[in-house]
Amino acid sequence: MELAGIKLKNPVMVASGTFGWGREYSDYLDLNKLGAIVTKSITLKPREGNPPPRIVETPSGMLNSIGLQNEGIEHFLKEDLPFLAKFDTPTIVNIAGESVEEYAELAKRLSKETTVKGIEVNISCPNVKKGGMAFGCDPKLTKEVIAAVRKATTQPVIAKLTPNVTDITVTAKAAAEAGADVLSLINTIVGMSIDIETGKSRLGSLTGGLSGPAIRPIAVRMVYEVTHAVKIPVIGIGGIMSGSDAVEFFLAGAKAIQVGTANFVDTEAAIKIIKEIDDYVHRYPRALNFS
Ligand code: SIN
Repeated sequence: MELAGIKLKNPVMVASGTFGWGREYSDYLDLNKLGAIVTKSITLKPREGNPPPRIVETPSGMLNSIGLQNEGIEHFLKEDLPFLAKFDTPTIVNIAGESVEEYAELAKRLSKETTVKGIEVNISCPNVKKGGMAFGCDPKLTKEVIAAVRKATTQPVIAKLTPNVTDITVTAKAAAEAGADVLSLINTIVGMSIDIETGKSRLGSLTGGLSGPAIRPIAVRMVYEVTHAVKIPVIGIGGIMSGSDAVEFFLAGAKAIQVGTANFVDTEAAIKIIKEIDDYVHRYPRALNFS
């Protein structure tokens, strides 16, 4: 199948921030079997991230506040991209910035790299003071960032949307109008968890992003709304733990899906989900269309 020119063996990708830069999982599963690998967000300069604790388990989910920790683009191009180039699986690089110019610069640098088959633009991280969700909550800023990235690269541009808005179709339309080829949704939902013994937040940065099965019905609803509002393809993300969860997203209109939090529970979750989708397709040959 193809998604805006990206050739995929199957519609199952691993979600940004849940799979490192591929190397971290390569001893546990065959990366060649995945539809695509979406890297953890990279920024222009290295980032230390947020103070610990950064992850908290919640009922049917997980809160994280990593703060986009990464080693920066130089390190990524030198150390991580050559590793990913060894696999017969498209690499989609997730980028994050504090300004429109930073996003554009990252896209420009990645544009020269043949291993990079697509750029996912993170305008939805809820855990940073500058950039991230601040861009993705405002349709005007969404347009500015996506238009700048669009101009800086010929590679397919995927806008990763935040659910922390009143109407996600507004930012979806803004991203599509600015030239995004694909939309991916949803990123995490802002949440908080308090330790009643200390009276303090369980996260070092007070709030974090909620992911996992707890958010799946919200994600399915948003994918349905967005696929009925824009013409470009949508990648569904949000608490997908099994093949049947993935099928819900396809029936809501998604062309592909990303597996996120499930990777932390079972390193082989994505591979199992590919097989379970295949079983469903054999049971209902006409239910899904992966052309
Ligand atoms: C983080 O690094 O805090 C999470 C990234 C994201 O939600 O986009």
